[in-house]
Amino acid sequence: MKETIFDVHAHYDDPKFDEDREEVLLSLKEKGVGYIINAGTDISTSQTTVEYCDRYDFMYGAVGIHPENADNLPNEYLSVIEEMTKHKKIVAIGEIGLDYYWDSVPRDVQKKVFQEQLILAEKLQMPVVIHDRDAHGDTMEILRQYRPKGIMHCFSGSVELCKEIVKLGMSISLGGVVTFKNARHSVEVAKYIPLDRLMLETDAPYLSPVPFRGKRCDSSLIRFTAEKIAEIKAVSLDDLLKITRENAFKMFGITP
Ligand code: NI
Repeated sequence: MKETIFDVHAHYDDPKFDEDREEVLLSLKEKGVGYIINAGTDISTSQTTVEYCDRYDFMYGAVGIHPENADNLPNEYLSVIEEMTKHKKIVAIGEIGLDYYWDSVPRDVQKKVFQEQLILAEKLQMPVVIHDRDAHGDTMEILRQYRPKGIMHCFSGSVELCKEIVKLGMSISLGGVVTFKNARHSVEVAKYIPLDRLMLETDAPYLSPVPFRGKRCDSSLIRFTAEKIAEIKAVSLDDLLKITRENAFKMFGITP
């Protein structure tokens, strides 16, 4: 029997798929993938995300400005994003947040654009998809202030931080990192996180799970991440896929 995988975070607009995107996407259903949320990272990839929603029945989208692209935005960027959310398969604002690892955009600019998009999400009553890389303190401070509904994507923090996020009412999506040998944090988080707050993602084309680590990732590889988490949670693979899929339906207002 084929499982139905819901990948809540992928980037099929990435140039790494330029050569065979259509082929890869059309092969996924057969491999048990039922739902994908493609995450925009700027105006152009958000627009591409909208196009994918039209072209592929299994595709949904998040539109927004990633912190690395928060510089030199057009004045009307918020209304451009708002316009895109009118598409019925655009289900979230994302990915948005803070990135102090690359630190390629001044932090005050990152914070401003993050906050503006949180306000937009609240106005539209849409969930958010949060990117937080090496910026846990400021990200949490802003989340405590705005209290959005949504998910922390590719969560990389400690169990303590995970507890705080759960307390705020948010969910967490885990990806291939949980299968890495040095993934102590991720394994502890997977163990702690309540099943009703957990979702699965790839962040494709990045972060392939073992045994494909380092290779290009696609949504079908979620199986390996799911197997590892099912083992940690002592539930069956089918149950884990079902629970995380239903969590995603609920979070993003999708009727299967
Ligand atoms: Ni991403």
